Amino acid sequence: MALSKKMEKILNAQVEKEAYASQLYLSMATWAEVQGYEGISLWFYAQAEEERVHMMKFIHYINERGGHAIVPALQQPPVDYKGVKAVFDAPLEHEQMVTAAINDIVALSLQEKDFTTNNWIQWFVAEQLEEESSVQAIIDKLAM
Ligand code: FEO
Repeated sequence: MALSKKMEKILNAQVEKEAYASQLYLSMATWAEVQGYEGISLWFYAQAEEERVHMMKFIHYINERGGHAIVPALQQPPVDYKGVKAVFDAPLEHEQMVTAAINDIVALSLQEKDFTTNNWIQWFVAEQLEEESSVQAIIDKLAM
């Protein structure tokens, strides 16, 4: 069964969120690299790659289910950050927003009885838990 128009739309909105997350982390990576924070920049470069993989998963899923995945225009992410703490607070906030968006997709899948999407999106439910806790762990370490 093909995706509903409503589901296709919310999944395409998620393509944009994942793509923006990738650009945001890339911007943080290049900022950290320029500041000389080598380890931090490597972490953000790796996150940027992961978010691109997430975006690709959504693109392939939408097309596989009879929809049309749209490559979005993106806003420019912030260029400068006030310091190491600021550069880690922003991703936590961003990941919490992404988790809420994933939860909205779960809710719609249940409402529409689209159990294929419900099953598929569970990978992201688990991934968000992991991402939020890994960013939180870094923030906790920085606070120490
Ligand atoms: Fe793809 Fe970090 O959410």
